[in-house]
Amino acid sequence: MNFQQLGNTCVVGLQWGDEGKGKIVDVLTEHFDVVVRYAGGANAGHTVRIGDQKFALHLVPSGILRPNVTCVIAAGVVLDPETLVREIDGLTARGVPVQEKLRISDRAHLVMPYHKKQDSLSEAALDSGRKLGTTSRGIGPCYADKMQRSMAFRVGDLLEADAFRQKLREVTAVKNRLFAALYDDKQPLDPDEIADTYLGFAARCAPSVTDTTHLLHQAAAEGKRLLFEGAQGTLLDIDHGTFPFVTSSNCSATGVAAGAGVPARTVHSYVGVIKAYCTRVGSGPFPTEQQNDIGRYIRERGQEFGTTTGRPRRCGWFDAFAARYSVMLGGITEVALMHLDTLAGLSEVNVCTGYRYRGRVLDYFTPNVRVLNEVEPVYETLPGWQATAVSWDSCEQLPAAARRYVERLEALIGAPITLVSVGADRAATLHRPGGLPRA
Ligand code: GDP
Ligand code: IMO
Ligand code: MG
Repeated sequence: MNFQQLGNTCVVGLQWGDEGKGKIVDVLTEHFDVVVRYAGGANAGHTVRIGDQKFALHLVPSGILRPNVTCVIAAGVVLDPETLVREIDGLTARGVPVQEKLRISDRAHLVMPYHKKQDSLSEAALDSGRKLGTTSRGIGPCYADKMQRSMAFRVGDLLEADAFRQKLREVTAVKNRLFAALYDDKQPLDPDEIADTYLGFAARCAPSVTDTTHLLHQAAAEGKRLLFEGAQGTLLDIDHGTFPFVTSSNCSATGVAAGAGVPARTVHSYVGVIKAYCTRVGSGPFPTEQQNDIGRYIRERGQEFGTTTGRPRRCGWFDAFAARYSVMLGGITEVALMHLDTLAGLSEVNVCTGYRYRGRVLDYFTPNVRVLNEVEPVYETLPGWQATAVSWDSCEQLPAAARRYVERLEALIGAPITLVSVGADRAATLHRPGGLPRA
């Protein structure tokens, strides 16, 4: 990956989230001035490992761990101030200054306590086959209120204490009636208690609140380099993912312009992040899932447990058919391939190259759940490789079979793999500027 040639860059997951976006954003941030979260909320869990230190970031952009970087939470994000303040305090206690580097859009919508409550109540009320397996962070209900408009709160509303308190009384009265009727809920929300808590958060966050759209346009005009940090993954996109088993935002690369408030042409490069296998947390189709020893092997070696919820992640073979769709949708210019180390030790590895559906092989991937529930993956089998005692410091040092695997993936997904990650640490990152030397 040639950092100097990237220009303004969007980093986006190409699978169902947890691809390693946090690590890549941290690696890239050294070369950028501003890092921007543009979609999603505290459902995200982005991990950065630096030596023996591990940071799990939910709302604060992963660029925060580098000095001299402005971190922006833009208008498209749904912001839970309780999580944000906890995260700021946790980082500050570990010697990472946050407040002076963080800028929060006054237009970002507020996740309220009743959004989290509704998330849990509505999931609990669904039949098991229809549960989404959300992160219970109130994401869906908050975006629903945003679209509905009259009951929504934005960060800017926190700065008008009296009006905030008054509107909250009206909204909680509606929510209380709704929850009692729909879920037989007997614990009504107390608007004044919520207002006191949220206005306390407001006092903490107010100095960071600004018009981030203006900030980003100004930064771009001054020639500052912008890095947009995607959350979730392309296959969880509300419009282009495996609906209804998705999140509630345009979390693919398609959402960057709307979420950040910049023209699409502001972004020059789209870096897709992808694991050398697939994982998924929560419900929904996963054609290459391995509910067997292979799946367990990947989960244990890759430590595939949710950063936000701690849930074991479902694991399976690399799905090149789906990845090719994500590359196409996002206009991906280069790819960072993560967790190549995790697959070491298997005698053979499978890659899904297509789907068989009702007797014929599909021409192109569809996120249509009814189709995905019926498809049978077509696999190509490649030789595996062993973990070596020495660390891998360059792509040339990778075992020949691992290099062949990367080359094959690159050909199948249709975008150059210019970075290969072989461990969680910043340092375990191999560059592959012009493509891999042939095995
Ligand atoms: P994100 O949500 O896309 O930022 O990804 P997560 O942080 O939720 O999950 C990725 C996990 O894989 C984290 O625990 C990372 O520390 C870890 N990780 C990232 N890259 C690699 C890698 O190349 N190898 C290994 N073994 N772990 C990695
Ligand atoms: P990062 O940014 C993996 C999944 C949930 C659930 C579905 C809907 O760390 O990659 P939601 O709470 O958003 O309504 O849940 O989306 N999901 C994620 N899975 N990584 C994430 O974020 C996710 N954010 C949401 O598990 O299936
Ligand atoms: Mg994650």
